[in-house]
Amino acid sequence: MIEKDNRHTVIIGGSSGLGRVVANSFLRQGHVVSVVGSRSGDEVVSLESPAHRYFQVDLSDEKLLTTNLSKVLSPMSSVNNLIFTQRYRGPLAASWSGEFETSVSATRSVIDFLTEKFSGDGSDAIVMVGSVYGSLVGDTQPLSYHVCKAALEQLVRFYAVNLGKLRIRVNGVIPGTFVKEESTEFYRNAHGLTELQARITPLGRMCRAEEVAEVISFLCSNAASFVTGQNLVVDGGASLVSQETIARSLLSFQTSRGNGQ
Ligand SMILES: NC(=O)c1ccc[n+]([C@@H]2O[C@H](COP(=O)([O-])OP(=O)(O)OC[C@H]3O[C@@H](n4cnc5c(N)ncnc54)[C@H](OP(=O)(O)O)[C@@H]3O)[C@@H](O)[C@H]2O)c1
Repeated sequence: MIEKDNRHTVIIGGSSGLGRVVANSFLRQGHVVSVVGSRSGDEVVSLESPAHRYFQVDLSDEKLLTTNLSKVLSPMSSVNNLIFTQRYRGPLAASWSGEFETSVSATRSVIDFLTEKFSGDGSDAIVMVGSVYGSLVGDTQPLSYHVCKAALEQLVRFYAVNLGKLRIRVNGVIPGTFVKEESTEFYRNAHGLTELQARITPLGRMCRAEEVAEVISFLCSNAASFVTGQNLVVDGGASLVSQETIARSLLSFQTSRGNGQ
């Protein structure tokens, strides 16, 4: 049952992937969870809880977004946590503007709209999910993704400084590749890729979406009460490994596969 004074967590992009895992995690913690996504409500199947509220909004439409944010707020008295897990999934040809609108502009608009609606009780938190592509360069994502993820890291710092006086903490989580429900099958069948990723990651395996969600929960919790403006890398140490080591790993991996090991 939704009580307007319950703790209220808003997840932008919580209808699939990591966002859905985060939503379920906060529901289990007893929060009222308001999820914003672009698909229709009846497609969001795994969030069966009366404390779950779903809002279908296209984040790239700024006017529509702010109109709908008023609905997200009502009848709740305030917001305690605001979490951004959205990412642009539209056509590559439109990715430059699409990524900026969905990722950077929407994040700014939502924060600016909701700033005054936080509880002000000293436990309020914002978390943005970036990517190691905000500082590394890879060939599986377009330029727009790299640039927007870098921009989010600076948004974290900017808002941390400017919202500190309202006692709102602002942090980022920077994952490497993680396996989510939707990609489990892909990585299970991706011959060699999963084993190689594990081999070049100091912790020796791939990350699961639940592990990223745990870090988000930590950053929203009292355990992180004096942490703000930080972008916390969650990649099992992979981005610390030198090119030489990765190259040698790849060579020995190829050799072992060639030998049928
Ligand atoms: N997957 C990885 O391995 C990985 C690695 C590093 C970082 N990340 C980051 O982690 C976050 C989550 O990634 P993910 O793979 O879990 O993402 P995902 O499954 O693609 O989910 C993205 C979410 O964003 C929402 N969304 C996208 N465009 C929207 C729009 N125009 N309006 C409203 N909602 C919109 C989607 O809603 P609908 O589904 O309803 O359309 C969905 O809820 C992202 O920030 C991503 O960059 C992911």
